[in-house]
Amino acid sequence: MQVKATLHRDFTIADIDDRLYSAFIEHMGRAIYTGIYEPGHPSADARGFRQDVLELVRDLKIPAVRYPGGNFVSAYDWKDGIGPKENRPVRLDLAWRSKETNQVGINEFAWWAEQAGLEMILAVNLGSGNLQDAREFAEYVNHASGTYWSDLRRSHGVEDPYNVKMWCLGNEMDGPWQIGHKDAREYGRLADETSKALKGLDPSIETIVCGSSSDEMPTYPEWEREVLDACYENVDYISLHKYFGNNSNNSLNFFAKTEATGRYIQAVSSIIDFTKAKKRARNDVYICFDEWNVWYHRRSEDDAKIRQWDWPEAPELLEETYNFEDALFVGCLLNEFIRRSDRVKIACIAQLVNVIAPIRADKGGPAWRQTIYWPYQFASLYGRGQALQVVTSGPTYDCEVADDVPYLDIAATRDKDTITLFVINRHPTETMDLDVALTGYTADRVLLHQCLEGHDLKATNSGTTPDKVSPSAGKHLGIEDEHLKGRLNPLSYHAIRIA
Ligand code: AHR
Repeated sequence: MQVKATLHRDFTIADIDDRLYSAFIEHMGRAIYTGIYEPGHPSADARGFRQDVLELVRDLKIPAVRYPGGNFVSAYDWKDGIGPKENRPVRLDLAWRSKETNQVGINEFAWWAEQAGLEMILAVNLGSGNLQDAREFAEYVNHASGTYWSDLRRSHGVEDPYNVKMWCLGNEMDGPWQIGHKDAREYGRLADETSKALKGLDPSIETIVCGSSSDEMPTYPEWEREVLDACYENVDYISLHKYFGNNSNNSLNFFAKTEATGRYIQAVSSIIDFTKAKKRARNDVYICFDEWNVWYHRRSEDDAKIRQWDWPEAPELLEETYNFEDALFVGCLLNEFIRRSDRVKIACIAQLVNVIAPIRADKGGPAWRQTIYWPYQFASLYGRGQALQVVTSGPTYDCEVADDVPYLDIAATRDKDTITLFVINRHPTETMDLDVALTGYTADRVLLHQCLEGHDLKATNSGTTPDKVSPSAGKHLGIEDEHLKGRLNPLSYHAIRIA
């Protein structure tokens, strides 16, 4: 099968915000405890942070991490996690029915994030918490000195403020499962006032208001309209969340869920535009897709487990083992974010370690890369600069979630004179002959071609076989007369850099 594509040097979509490749870590399961933090682990440093996990995080070169939740944040008191560790209370975490020891709090996490080279995106509790808690938290974190909260931070050994610029106004407040769930009007007002208070503290703060927990929520998209109506002029981003699965074991339909995600982004963008026009507002609101990933392999098993257990500490939870099919899907989803980078400025893979994560770490044992680590890393390393329009013609398919889905999924970026293409051949059996016209470029070299291919769709990595699904150098691509030409095997992922 043949696919023709054209790129033009001047036909760009948008500047890609580096924060498109951010991540999320929540206090739940083994994400924090025995994930990033495990005193006594052979690789732990003096503060108890695992260096093996830290290295895998650093290698991703991602810019920012959202913390501390998730559902957890909606009943979390940040004050439980400050001061001498021995005085910190053990609390019940109502979201995940587990015990929270508070041995990691904002100062420990901030230290870890700095070691990992990550900026923090902090979420405030607008479930059981209120505006006052949020502003005190922000003052503790961001104010230099001379006030009760800033001096308290300094008394905890942190002289300089963290200057956190991105703040989430609660989490999934549309979800009836959320502690302190609210209706759209109620939440919109609270978000508006909280955002004003945070920006009053520091006008350079950017706030992220909760959109829907997914486009399948009964209140979507009315939730977005009502919430933005209440707070548009005082917020900078609206969040989108979506998790994906292949319960029907239909790979082509699974892969096409990224097209449906494009419709979700489009619809929320339209509500943003509508609200801006209605309010005659001058400011722009962008999208922060701050939770996305594959989550289905053991979801019902985990749901049942949580209902029955007796408040365990750092239990195994949501430890999805990802396969090659999931890696192809993640490649397609990241392509969709690149294509929508005019509206989506921040996106966070959910999550980063152990819990629905690209990195797994056994308690007392090794850490390793899951299959989805690879497309996420390639996008983070090379999907920078500007997103380019790609005009393609080639074979397509219809499925339950979308029609006319191209078998070959392509996104392209340009960073100075280097072009990167991320290409996924979703066809189960056919090789694609690719011909990309590079209009306006004088590219003559393939600098890098890494691919994931030749695996069973259900192949996975593990602590004992960590590299079973890992990239290899691609062989069948070259440049002739300003055309990139080559053959892409069925069910394969490619990161291609040319200059
Ligand atoms: O990431 C796991 C959970 O998924 C988060 O806590 C919540 O925000 C979402 O429902």
